Amino acid sequence: MSDVPLLAVDGLRIDIGSGAQRHAAVEGVSFSIARGETFGLVGESGCGKSITALSIMGLLRQPLSLGGGTIVLDGQPIHKASAAEMRSLRGRRIGMIFQEPMTALNPLSPVGRQIAEMFVLHMGMGWKEANDRAVESLRQVRVPSPERRIHDYPHQLSGGMRQRVMIAIALACSPDMLIADEPTTALDVTVQAEIVDLMRELCAAKGTAILMISHDLGLVAQVCRRVAVMYAGRIVEQRASAEVFKDPRHPYTRGLLASLPRLGARSKQGRQRLNEISGVVPAVSAFPKGCRFNPRCTARTDVCMVEDPATTALDGGVGLVRCHNA
Ligand SMILES: Nc1ncnc2c1ncn2[C@@H]1O[C@H](COP(=O)(O)OP(=O)(O)O)[C@@H](O)[C@H]1O
Ligand code: SF4
Ligand SMILES: [Mg+2]
Repeated sequence: MSDVPLLAVDGLRIDIGSGAQRHAAVEGVSFSIARGETFGLVGESGCGKSITALSIMGLLRQPLSLGGGTIVLDGQPIHKASAAEMRSLRGRRIGMIFQEPMTALNPLSPVGRQIAEMFVLHMGMGWKEANDRAVESLRQVRVPSPERRIHDYPHQLSGGMRQRVMIAIALACSPDMLIADEPTTALDVTVQAEIVDLMRELCAAKGTAILMISHDLGLVAQVCRRVAVMYAGRIVEQRASAEVFKDPRHPYTRGLLASLPRLGARSKQGRQRLNEISGVVPAVSAFPKGCRFNPRCTARTDVCMVEDPATTALDGGVGLVRCHNA
């Protein structure tokens, strides 16, 4: 086994706009993921999770651009890769699933064909063989009667079934890593659990690493061994999931934890959120001076209003927190 991480993101900066209108939406984001490892990015909506994922996939489009930092996949610096190189990497080495499978699937093409396409494009198979493999892939994601289902169009399937199809497409070529951005947010709670279990099980069996993105710390911790908490474009705490639950150090992480529904409290009315963090995530053009969390923080002191906190190592150097008072 080599020590080279599967994915190493270092000092990532993502800009929105250009010239005087340029703002860093993501700044100084660094993390690495080992082969087969499960890693989560968590934070409220607008914290920069999705654009971080897009940058790894080479999918940043105007007004977004890579402002700095490096992204290295298996030793290869992909932040410099050409559009054609990234197209070949996506699907083959990095599989992706998103919140809304309807937008990722082609509405005019039967799902079997969309899975088979992966084998044709990335593995050089002929259509006949690729179609047989597509049936097999659907069986793997436990779609009933896959021989018949391959002829269905996306709109003929339920949300849960569509997300299974997305998982089949994402894992078709046995990629090294699956990026799952809010994969279950659009689904109802029981289907959510099935999809998460399926994703986890298939990736574990194939040795596929997972980069899971969600606003739900509970969900991320359930899937991921390590987690990075993002706030306003930065990682504010990064640790083993178990440590985050045992002893959260950043006030934002504490807030996320406190707002989780208590175990067993998932009622029929849905997930009732107690102890919401007051206020909202700031716009990229209006990040506060000092600590970006200061307007919402109940632990803030004078220094927080003027000085941006640096990171402090935790857990013997494998974890970190970015807070003056952690
Ligand atoms: N295409 C875009 N154009 C302008 N701003 C964008 C674009 N995409 C994302 N942003 C902004 O970048 C920030 C981070 O967005 P995003 O990564 O989608 O957050 P998250 O996934 O954590 O909810 C937000 O302030 C969002 O409004
Ligand atoms: S640095 Fe200050 S304002 Fe920021 S999270 Fe820590 S205590 Fe709160
Ligand atoms: Mg997002």
